[in-house]
Amino acid sequence: MLPTDFSERYGPWALIAGGSEGTGEAFARRIAGEGVNVVLLARRQAPLDSLAADIQGEHNVEVRTASVDLADADAAATAAELTEELDVGLVIFNAGATIRFNYFADWPEEDLLTLVNMNCRTTTLFAHRFAPRLIQRGRGGFVLLGSVAGFAGSTHQSVYNASKAYDWVLAEGLWRELGIYGVDAIAMVIGATDTPSHRRMGADLSAHSPMDSSDVAAEALANLRNGPTYVVGEHNRAAADFILTSQNRGAIVSSMSESSAGIAGDEMLPMA
Ligand SMILES: NC(=O)c1ccc[n+]([C@@H]2O[C@H](COP(=O)([O-])OP(=O)(O)OC[C@H]3O[C@@H](n4cnc5c(N)ncnc54)[C@H](OP(=O)(O)O)[C@@H]3O)[C@@H](O)[C@H]2O)c1
Repeated sequence: MLPTDFSERYGPWALIAGGSEGTGEAFARRIAGEGVNVVLLARRQAPLDSLAADIQGEHNVEVRTASVDLADADAAATAAELTEELDVGLVIFNAGATIRFNYFADWPEEDLLTLVNMNCRTTTLFAHRFAPRLIQRGRGGFVLLGSVAGFAGSTHQSVYNASKAYDWVLAEGLWRELGIYGVDAIAMVIGATDTPSHRRMGADLSAHSPMDSSDVAAEALANLRNGPTYVVGEHNRAAADFILTSQNRGAIVSSMSESSAGIAGDEMLPMA
């Protein structure tokens, strides 16, 4: 159940960066269901158009879309300009999944930079562009998507994990700072979730009880006020507790690496 004052607190407009499919789509549908208008950003225009038509057919809200590459240096500035005239009460930076599962040395430099730019540079600049607007409103929310993978290093997705650790800690700082002004900043940490982007990469999540995107969005939106960090899903909270309280980092990293290799369908090589 979403809070009864959801639209008053987070409306009249929500911005979802990475809002055309998977958890981003699920966030958009739920938020629109609360009567809040949505601005959806993604690279591909066709899925944006089709989701916008769907939402407008189901709910009495406005939907705006724009094709933006969130790894681009000017992505945050573009998002701010696109929404300049709108009273945006909720910003969800959803995009950010890994773009491949490979041993680090096999990653092309370009892909490493894409992830770092999107998950560190652009998330920071989004916060910097939208925090003053939210502060001025004196209410609203700013959400960065974290991952249980961001609680430890692992092979195959080391830069992804590191970027999610960055977002986690950034959001925690913003929680305390924006909290001064009545704005809910939060690291919304999720675990394995069945999304189109993971399916396209051929990720094998079968050993990780993947959640459904709409369940993730429902639980996340119901807990926007439970920062600085909220972990979605009982089994993910148990995993997070285990990872974060263990003093044996070698064992944790090895275990996370076994998982990443399994998701990649790759062989976990022994240490020399
Ligand atoms: N799925 C999981 O198992 C899982 C687990 C833990 C955490 N998470 C987190 O949950 C969030 C969502 O993950 P996801 O699996 O749904 O996949 P995702 O690829 O991060 O998100 C998909 C959405 O983001 C858009 N997008 C991706 N790259 C973009 C870019 N460079 N510029 C603009 N838009 C972009 C996609 O549309 P376009 O492709 O058209 O751009 C789509 O709308 C991520 O932050 C991820 O780290 C996911």
